[in-house]
Amino acid sequence: MKADVFTLFPQWFGWFAEQRHVANALASGHELHAVDPRATTPLKWGQVDDTPFGGGAGMVLRVDVMEAALRARYDADPVELPARRRVIALTPGGRLLDDAFASELAREPDLTLLCGRYEGFDERILEHFVTEQISIGRYVLAGGELAAMVVLDTVLRKLPGVLGDEASAVEESFSEALAGAPEYPHYTRPAEWRGWTVPEVLLSGHHARVRDWRLEQARSRAHNGPLP
Ligand SMILES: C[S@@+](CC[C@H](N)C(=O)[O-])C[C@H]1O[C@@H](n2cnc3c(N)ncnc32)[C@H](O)[C@@H]1O
Repeated sequence: MKADVFTLFPQWFGWFAEQRHVANALASGHELHAVDPRATTPLKWGQVDDTPFGGGAGMVLRVDVMEAALRARYDADPVELPARRRVIALTPGGRLLDDAFASELAREPDLTLLCGRYEGFDERILEHFVTEQISIGRYVLAGGELAAMVVLDTVLRKLPGVLGDEASAVEESFSEALAGAPEYPHYTRPAEWRGWTVPEVLLSGHHARVRDWRLEQARSRAHNGPLP
């Protein structure tokens, strides 16, 4: 996968790229580029935003600035991009990210993520340059960078070879393997601590019973709603 993140804070992604599974993904040939729209802005003094028409607080990311950044990166009119690749704007009101959506994105060869700042994007960016908007939750962050990292974190760990143990990403909370349920509980040594014991079935060495117990635990967690 080749992922481009358009951000006014490209240095944030240096830390992100060093994290184990992201570094694994990059070492195995996947790419992550942080693209700074300030570098290609047609405006003076690195300007990228402006005051909102109609008044109100904050600054809005300009459509001409985003167009220049996308043109420079892809050598194409950005209105043509959505037909060629997924161009995703991070917005609080977008489609909520979940495991199925992350799996869908993990099948893409190319991803473009646009991070907003301040009041957000000029609406024409969202109307003409992007395929969709993603939200990581119904709350407001100061910028799209952390949201982009959340998207990339969950997408990259789904790519083959990125996690040390392939099975880790197959059977976990909300996966198809668990029919969308939260994952079952895990325990490790010691088998007893302060009188708190481990369910006997997990110590039995009986794989079929362990499997049934785990699936039942996941099912009941799905049935009972969010964990306390
Ligand atoms: C301060 S927010 C803008 C909020 C916007 N004025 C509103 O009320 O919806 C700045 C940027 O952070 C990003 N952002 C904030 N919350 C987000 C969320 N929950 N999911 C995805 N992106 C988010 C978006 O890129 C947004 O343009």
